[in-house]
Amino acid sequence: MAHYVDLHSHFLPGLDDGAESFATCLSMVRALAEMGFSDLCATPHQFAGMFEPPLDQVRLTFDQVSHGIAAVLPEVRLLLGAENYWDDVLAARLRQGEPPCYDGGKAFLFEISPLVMPPRLEEALFDIRVGGRLAVLAHPERYPAVQRDPAVAEGLGRQAALLVDLAALSGTGDRTEIRTARRLVEEGLAHAAASDIHDPEDGPAIASGLAWIEKRLGAEAVKRLLSDNPRRILKGQLP
Ligand SMILES: [Fe+2]
Repeated sequence: MAHYVDLHSHFLPGLDDGAESFATCLSMVRALAEMGFSDLCATPHQFAGMFEPPLDQVRLTFDQVSHGIAAVLPEVRLLLGAENYWDDVLAARLRQGEPPCYDGGKAFLFEISPLVMPPRLEEALFDIRVGGRLAVLAHPERYPAVQRDPAVAEGLGRQAALLVDLAALSGTGDRTEIRTARRLVEEGLAHAAASDIHDPEDGPAIASGLAWIEKRLGAEAVKRLLSDNPRRILKGQLP
């Protein structure tokens, strides 16, 4: 097993737009394990007005799924996180010092509106770092400001970890996202890559994104983006 770490996925059932049942969840986890992932972070959405599963319900689902997965795929380790939308709920949680982090640690995953860049985002991320936490930006390739100007990614990447979606590297889907994701990886601006799996059918595109990294940049880059850097991020370090 390659022992990759997946920092972004939606396999916990019944919480957001990811898995609908334990059976679907299991086939997603199995697909990721077959690609070489040994450590899977479940990151259900926390998105005000859209997906607001209470955190105690998320924890309960995670515990049940962990139990079920351990029985059939004991080699896979599950960790709990969240994909936090950059909204008032996250702002309040940050103020209280309790954003939903990976595995109760110092790093947390977030996404922003694809329409409008939050004003003074870089400063906010700087303050978060100074406060001892590491923000991890999901799919930077999706945001028009980053698509237009790689310098935006460079600025954000000095304060937060940038986590591209593997499927965006695969060559299928939105052309601008593909071009941007590949550029971020080729220019060393992306710190890590992740599955962002929502459905078992996402498997082939995720595997093909992994294969693209290996073919284009070699096995060392795969190890850096899927294993070494994600492990540093989980410790709260910006790679
Ligand atoms: Fe996601």
